[in-house]
Amino acid sequence: MKVGIDKLGFYAPKTYLDLETLAQARNVDSHKYTIGIGQKKMALPSYSEDVITMALEAADSILDDLDKQSIDTVLFATETAVDFSKAAGIYMHSLLGLKPSVRILEVKQACYASTGALFMACDHVKVHPSARVLILASDVAWYGFETAGEATQGAGAIAMVVSAQPRIAEVFEGQVITENRSDFYRPSYSSIPVVDGKLSIESYKTLLKKVEMKVSFPYICFHMPFAKMANKANEILEFPMSDENLNIIKDYGSEIGNIYNGSLYLSLLSLIMKANEDLSQQTIGMFSYGSGAIGEFFTITFSNDYNKAIHRKHIDSMFENRISLSIKQYHHMMEFYQEREASSDFLLEDKYVYDHQKFVLHAISKGHREYKRI
Ligand code: HMG
Repeated sequence: MKVGIDKLGFYAPKTYLDLETLAQARNVDSHKYTIGIGQKKMALPSYSEDVITMALEAADSILDDLDKQSIDTVLFATETAVDFSKAAGIYMHSLLGLKPSVRILEVKQACYASTGALFMACDHVKVHPSARVLILASDVAWYGFETAGEATQGAGAIAMVVSAQPRIAEVFEGQVITENRSDFYRPSYSSIPVVDGKLSIESYKTLLKKVEMKVSFPYICFHMPFAKMANKANEILEFPMSDENLNIIKDYGSEIGNIYNGSLYLSLLSLIMKANEDLSQQTIGMFSYGSGAIGEFFTITFSNDYNKAIHRKHIDSMFENRISLSIKQYHHMMEFYQEREASSDFLLEDKYVYDHQKFVLHAISKGHREYKRI
């Protein structure tokens, strides 16, 4: 039985900070960010957005009535949890029009959780072939002002439907490597992660080196905390991909920044949208990494109809119609975000809603969140 990714949706906030602007403000040579780290822009959540609104936007862009009737499981992968108890996906259930008999869980293992969820979803569909599983990967990668990680921030969400009729790609069993490491973690007392940047890059590479890759692949999509990480990963492979193909899988990541759980799948979207050839029946590699740490290498084979299953116009327009922030606006927006996320009560003002948004975080009342479709 073929099982895999039937639909793939993406949402990034409209607002972003140009890395040249950040470099100027931080008195850093801009080439460090644009060449050394490889990033052009970082997407940032606007005043009415959080991981749940971003996941709602990504899911709403791909779900049809058949999905809504057949989805029996929702797995929400995030390391930007808004609650220690309630799963983020529960807030989305009625807004997406899902049926009452759905299991909804939040899953966590740094940036790897979405890939863990993908494999759990595939196994579930193998046992229940008529079922569909909705996977959501939504994060705000936030390290704080004037930190080493600042240039690698980002925000965005991926939504995937897994089914036994995968119109995008069939997913094959992977090689998993798990090691207890202290490269990056966010203890419950902290709103930002504890990061050892150099150790994290070394950990990523160490786990990748343990993968047995016996054949070469035309493309390998990587978890991409910053675009240059894909170069570092590619150069240690026995069969590295060409520079041209490397640039294709990096393109969207360099425009958005790290989106943690969605990052590998943003690299896949970049390939689908930017490849200069038909990918039908091509098998590619995928490397997922989540600090702490788990690495998994797996392969997927594109279906003949993969291109028809992607909303190309919607995705193109998302990248075309973005709003560049000044450094002052960036500070204001992220100070607002931090304060809101630490508050028990909040009420959204109308001036903070952008035209393109379908969902907003309308209010927080005694810690409970209220979302609206607008
Ligand atoms: P840093 O210490 O500020 O930067 O932190 P650097 O001094 O290492 O410089 C970065 C690169 O720019 C270097 O290139 C410099 O040579 C170059 P490299 O040696 O690495 O090839 N450079 C320049 N290039 C051109 N012109 C110049 C110039 N100046 C310097 N003028 C770091 C960088 C990425 C460590 C930091 O931003 C950070 O800590 N980021 C967060 C952690 C991270 O992204 N780790 C990646 C692997 S871990 C992972 O992927 C998991 C993660 O997604 C979390 C999860 O799983 O949940 C993060």
